[in-house]
This record gives sequence, C-alpha cells and structure tokens, in this order.
Amino acid sequence: MSEESVVILGIETSCDETSAAIVRNGREVLANTISTQMDLHKQYGGVVPEIASRRHIESILPVIEETLKEAKLTLEELDAIAVTYAPGLVGALLVGVSTAKALSFSLKKPLLAVHHIEGHIAANYIAHPGLKPPYICLVVSGGHTLIVYVKDYTCFEIVGKTRDDAAGEAFDKVARTLNLGYPGGPIIEQLARKGNANAVHFPRTYFRDNSLDFSFSGIKTSVLQYVRSREVKHEEIVVEDIAASFQQAVLEVLVKNTLIAAKSYGVDTVAISGGVAANRALCDLMEQSCDSQGVSCVYPSVCLCTDNAAMIAAQGYQLFTRKKYAPLDLNAIPYLKVGEKS
Ligand code: KG4
Ligand code: ZN
Repeated sequence: MSEESVVILGIETSCDETSAAIVRNGREVLANTISTQMDLHKQYGGVVPEIASRRHIESILPVIEETLKEAKLTLEELDAIAVTYAPGLVGALLVGVSTAKALSFSLKKPLLAVHHIEGHIAANYIAHPGLKPPYICLVVSGGHTLIVYVKDYTCFEIVGKTRDDAAGEAFDKVARTLNLGYPGGPIIEQLARKGNANAVHFPRTYFRDNSLDFSFSGIKTSVLQYVRSREVKHEEIVVEDIAASFQQAVLEVLVKNTLIAAKSYGVDTVAISGGVAANRALCDLMEQSCDSQGVSCVYPSVCLCTDNAAMIAAQGYQLFTRKKYAPLDLNAIPYLKVGEKS
C-alpha cells in the first residue's frame, strides 16, 4: 500500500439500494454500482424492510463482483473495506455489515465503519476535489434533515435538525396525498417546473428560540387539507401549482436556516447532500442565496446525492488515514446521531 494510492471498497445497504464502489484516495471513483429496489417497493408506496433485506442478500455479491470488474481490480488489491453500519433498516444494514466483515477477515484488510449521513456529506469530496472543512452542510434525505457544522473530516456538530418529518419524507407524503407515486421527490420536482409557486400559500415553520430546527409535518397536513377542501367543493386541483407551491415553501426554510448557520459559524462554504439535494430547484435557490452573501455553494451530481457506496468509500478513506479501524464484532445500529460513537 502506498500513501498516494489507497483504494477502498465501499458497501451500502442501509435502505433500498444495494451498492458497492471503489474509490481511490477518497476522491476518485473507479466504479460505483447501484442496484435499486425501487420498483419492488413502489407497489407498497414505501420501503418494506423485510423485502429490502432479502433483495440485498441476493444482490450484494453480484454487485461487488461487477464493481471489481469495472475498476479492473482484484479483492487482494484493495486496501480496506468500508461499510455503512448506521443508521438505517437493521436487517438491510446487517447484509452489508456481514459481507464487509467476511471480506475484512478473509482478506486481512482493515474494516471501516461509516455513518450513513457522514457518507452523504463525503459525497461532496468526490464532486469537489478542493473542498475542505470547515463548512456547513445541509443534509436532506428521506430519513434525515440536518444542518451540520463539518469542523473536520471526522468531526461534526449538529446545528439544526427536523423535529418531525424529514424533508424527503414530506415530498414522499405529499406525493402520496396527490396520488403521484413513489418516491415523491423527483415527481414533485418535475411537476413543479410547470406550476406556479405563488398559487397556494403553504406555511413555513421557523422556531422562535434562535433554533435552526425544522418542522415539515405542518406543511404536509396543510397540503392534505387544501386538497380535501377543494375536493369537497368540487373545485379544480392543479397538481403542478400545488407541487410548485409546496416545494417552494420547503426549499425556502431549508435555505434560510442553512445560511443563518453559515453566518453564525463564519464559514465561507455551504454544501448540500442527501437524496433531496438531487432537487435542482433547491441547489439553484441555495446558490443564489449564497452568492448574495459571498459564500460558495457546492453539491454533488445527482447520482451521488441518493444512496450510493462511493460516498461510503470516500468517508471510509478519512477513517483509514486516521487508522480508525472497526473491530470484527461490529454490529448494525438502526439509530445513531451524526458524530455520535456507538
Ligand atoms: O438519501 P436518500 O437516497 O435515502 C435516504 O437516506 O433517505 O434520499 C431519498 C429521498 C426520498 O425521500 C426522495 O423523495 C428524495 O430523497 N428525493 C428528492 C429528489 N430526488 C430524491 N426530493 C426532492 N427532489 C428530488 N429531485
Ligand atoms: Zn441516504
């Protein structure tokens, strides 16, 4: 192993994507294979944990084999194995954790335990090779909405968090209310492009106590009430306008709080990550607001926003260089805060 070329295999199975990736020096993706189970869960309107675990078991080895083939590497040439161990669906996480432990043990290579959200944050190191802490990162996914002060590559402080639904969850629930299908985020974004964001006023929730926390359950209920009241009165429902108005309300709160955090921590960079960062309207609004405050804004390409193993290998690299290896009795943890050690 040379300092200049560290190749890490990343494994991600925390929800409904089985993914393996090989990343060099924490920044350069040699291969990133993602096998999505989306179609399997679509009929249920959300992820069914038992079905997800079973599909991960079927997919994990072929996905790893394909990744090695694409990177033109053998298992012996890897320097370490990084895996998502928390948070997520426990049965799903266990598939990745068990596979990574077996590989680590048999190959005698270090095992690196990566927090899923810390992985999402690290997706930006791949997309922006010059990005260095400290910076503020808005993490917006299906299960989490957080403003994180990234003090260093492995040192995090939570500045704000959702007190109820995650932003992605709100997109998914509103899509369900409008019978649009799953996952809701991309569908709502598409419809919003054709709608009027000022057509309906949905609430923006801010907390008075100087807190940068979020709440998205009120807006979800508000969309439902709006749709019901129109239905009762047999009035037309323009889904494009509802999508655009809902999206605008969510994005405004996300951007406003993130910029307050950037100002109060005195950073010159804001990053966005997680599945909802795939929403280009969010990235555009964040970029505009950052520009007006002289702050730079970064976000990953769409395929690195949603769940993938490249981001896990990227964060694994940071643990590897600090020799923060995990023991072989590593377990999967369903709930664990960013920066909190198991
Ligand atoms: O990070 P992710 O792939 O999985 C979790 O760790 O949760 O995020 C999935 C979430 C879903 O709620 C999905 O609706 C949302 O990200 N999402 C989007 C978009 N693409 C995915 N939300 C808004 N706009 C999008 N374009
Ligand atoms: Zn995720």
